[in-house]
Amino acid sequence: MSYKISEKLQQARDYEAREGAAIPAADRPRLHLTPRVGWMNDPNGFCHYKGAYHLFYQYYPYDTVWGAMHWGHAVSTDLLHWDYLPCAMAPDTPADEKGCFSGSAVELPDGRLALMYTGVSGTDKAVVQAQCVAVGDGVDFVKDAHNPVLPPRQQPEGFCTADFRDPKIWREGDRYYCVAAGLHREDVGSIQLYESEDALHWTFVRVLDASRDELGIMWECPDFFPLDGRQLLLVSPQSIGPCADPEIRPGYATLALVGDYDPETHRFDRRSVQLLDAGTEFYAPQTTLTPDGRRVMVAWMENWETCKAAPRRHRWFGRMTLPRELTVREGRLYQNPVREIEAHWREEARRTLRVEGDQPLPEFSGRYQDVSLVLDAAQSPDCRALTLGFAQGGKCATTLRWEADREELVFDRSRCGTRRDMANIRRIPARARDGRLTLRLILDGDSVELFVNDGERTITSIIDTPPEADALSLHSDGPAMVELVRHTLV
Ligand code: FRU
Repeated sequence: MSYKISEKLQQARDYEAREGAAIPAADRPRLHLTPRVGWMNDPNGFCHYKGAYHLFYQYYPYDTVWGAMHWGHAVSTDLLHWDYLPCAMAPDTPADEKGCFSGSAVELPDGRLALMYTGVSGTDKAVVQAQCVAVGDGVDFVKDAHNPVLPPRQQPEGFCTADFRDPKIWREGDRYYCVAAGLHREDVGSIQLYESEDALHWTFVRVLDASRDELGIMWECPDFFPLDGRQLLLVSPQSIGPCADPEIRPGYATLALVGDYDPETHRFDRRSVQLLDAGTEFYAPQTTLTPDGRRVMVAWMENWETCKAAPRRHRWFGRMTLPRELTVREGRLYQNPVREIEAHWREEARRTLRVEGDQPLPEFSGRYQDVSLVLDAAQSPDCRALTLGFAQGGKCATTLRWEADREELVFDRSRCGTRRDMANIRRIPARARDGRLTLRLILDGDSVELFVNDGERTITSIIDTPPEADALSLHSDGPAMVELVRHTLV
């Protein structure tokens, strides 16, 4: 197969090779994927293909703000160390002249990789979003001559042309399915299921679930898969209003709809709704299966609200979360960092201690580390609150405070160093399980990912803190029995 690279794509490839190479490695996190240069949003086309993980991303190489969407591309063998591949797609055909929006990837029976994505075209007043396909060898891709392969008129009556996007494709036996997000005229965000024999000709099957203004309006970036006996529908709603669940705040959020699915009728019955991450920077996740059968998710480690005010310190902006292994236990989705991270562990420090008042911990200082803390709540009946401070130095500190009476955890980055009045505080339920509360904190320079009680809840945030602020400490109101284990990360 010969690939004809358009001028626009060649221009992006030349630009990113030149400008990306000029960014020092020290300006990037160690284990989180950043764009080669310029802007990154959603993860796209996450897959394992011919022996390596591929992760594409929404990409505008020429600036650190959102622009005409390209697809950036990186590969990895361990999900943590990524090498850049050339930009995979540019908005260079009539069907996607306004942007190659989010989508996904699937391997075809002949061994080629198909990317299914949203092509944006039309005018500002009459936007058209339609699903397109490009097929290639894992580096170069040819857009299908019949794009868009799934135009908005194939939606049922009442759905808008301007909001129809983010197809997530998968293969099942000899058929392909995809879920895509659509907006009904009555302001109802919906996830639609389509079916195909060749990934090119699609028929509508049914609407799987909808927002009905209880959970936002437009839903973006769906993902749909079975896990541990349940069926999960992941969605990223825009414009959530007052919500019955106090954990779900207004604005942009990411939800796991946990339910049951009947593959015969394709009916999805939602049983519960769970906020996927309570942090300030987490959106648009996408999953894939590893060769050993794990369901792994990555998300954009930003949020449309906070990214506007976030400082631009480098020639890149936006990053991915660590890939996380998903499991469902008792109807709840759990997330934990992929186990591959252990190969990136270096120096270990361990301590079991009784904390009362301030407890500096100089041997645990650092900004690149994987820290686990176990509070033996059963043996600490008089502990009223335990505070873990990190990225501390000068006037800066970020804290996690567990409040025993409320059984809640308060994440507070308001003194991290930011000069913006943005979302800085998050409060989540955190109950001791079998008398123990466990926290796992992964620091990678200016980001933090917190996993509470073995991934029952997570908080993902960026901290705009000078690198020299690296102290870690504890403070307990009332004596607390604590175990700490730390591994530095390389
Ligand atoms: C989600 C999103 C998608 C869209 C893409 C555009 O963050 O709005 O719905 O495809 O970003 O970059």
